[in-house]
Amino acid sequence: MSSDKTPLQSSAVINEAVQTLRDGGLVAFPTETVYGLGADAKNAEAIQKIFSAKGRPSNHPLIVHLAAPDKFDRAQIDWLPLLTPWVRDLSDDALKLMNAFWPGPLTLVFKKDKSVLDELTGGQDTVAIRAPAHPVAQELLRKFKGGVVAPSANRFGKVSPTSAADVRNEFEGMLDLMVLDGGDCEVGIESTIIDLSSGDSAILLRPGVITPKEILAKTGITVYQLDEAKDQNLIPVLPRVSGSMRAHYAPTTPLRLYAPGRVLDALSEFPDIKSRVAVAVWDSESSLGEDGHPSVHFEEVEVPSNSTTFASRLYRSLRDLDQQGWDLILFPEPPAGEEWDGVRDRLQRACFGSGPSSSSHASN
Ligand code: TXA
Ligand code: MG
Repeated sequence: MSSDKTPLQSSAVINEAVQTLRDGGLVAFPTETVYGLGADAKNAEAIQKIFSAKGRPSNHPLIVHLAAPDKFDRAQIDWLPLLTPWVRDLSDDALKLMNAFWPGPLTLVFKKDKSVLDELTGGQDTVAIRAPAHPVAQELLRKFKGGVVAPSANRFGKVSPTSAADVRNEFEGMLDLMVLDGGDCEVGIESTIIDLSSGDSAILLRPGVITPKEILAKTGITVYQLDEAKDQNLIPVLPRVSGSMRAHYAPTTPLRLYAPGRVLDALSEFPDIKSRVAVAVWDSESSLGEDGHPSVHFEEVEVPSNSTTFASRLYRSLRDLDQQGWDLILFPEPPAGEEWDGVRDRLQRACFGSGPSSSSHASN
């Protein structure tokens, strides 16, 4: 994506990463969404290493990442032969979605081919696949010539990494990990996930920067929200999606959202008033002013009022603020509108899981 400004990894380094994957090792690599922790999708032992490195329950399924053919012209890619080793029943809708959005930040869930390892799917009958657009990911995948499973390269429940340094910090002292550096991730939140495995309908499992509205506009396909799909019995078996747990993507510092103009209300939950509070404010709005709280020191941090720019910086901001020793972090509630669904989803889960005792939440 940003090959003009990003110092991309040399071929020699990528070749070494390919060899590491072939030897059953783990390699962290950049994608346009977040950094992934990769392993050979055909190697059960390598896949187990991902679960132990992340501390993730072993029945949570992983996404298989595939390369687009070399020197692609988006419109000309024939995805069918690339997908058939992994999935059964490729529908016309699936092909339309791939043609419109791959390579890119969209993951599709299919009924799996029988050769797909249970270790990868958490024992489910479906498999999630995506073709990332980042040039380093593409080069790695093309040279590896196979599928690479990759969850976000963070410890389970924590904030996803959007730079190589974030990945190193996440596993420091635990794991001697090869990390390919592809600069900062442009999208900044994880891919949109659409479940096509029920055959007839497309169901949104995880919101991201590609929205149902954009999908409808580009392909004519209606994507149902998970609640709608449940109400209309469009989904026979509820998939397990770890990002769907209430607590996820969470910083260690307590994080809360405030309604427009209601910063002080957000403090009511913290009666033993905290002294240092970071308050994120929209860059389009004037500052909060001086009428704060007598015993609280607020410091304002501007956040973008454009949804895609906000997404691209969200995890960076959460990580940075988490390092700065605040007692509390406040973010403005994202406005209504589908283009904000991805960041609203991540922020709400980050709030729920945040704080030093987040591990006590039953759902994490
Ligand atoms: O942007 C992304 O998708 C990043 C980059 C690295 O590609 N990956 C990522 O992976 O976010 P992870 O493992 O952190 O989240 C993958 C999500 C999980 O919530 C998982 O439950 C869901 O995908 N998933 C994987 N396979 C699935 C399946 N067969 N059915 C339903 N959900 C599935
Ligand atoms: Mg994740």
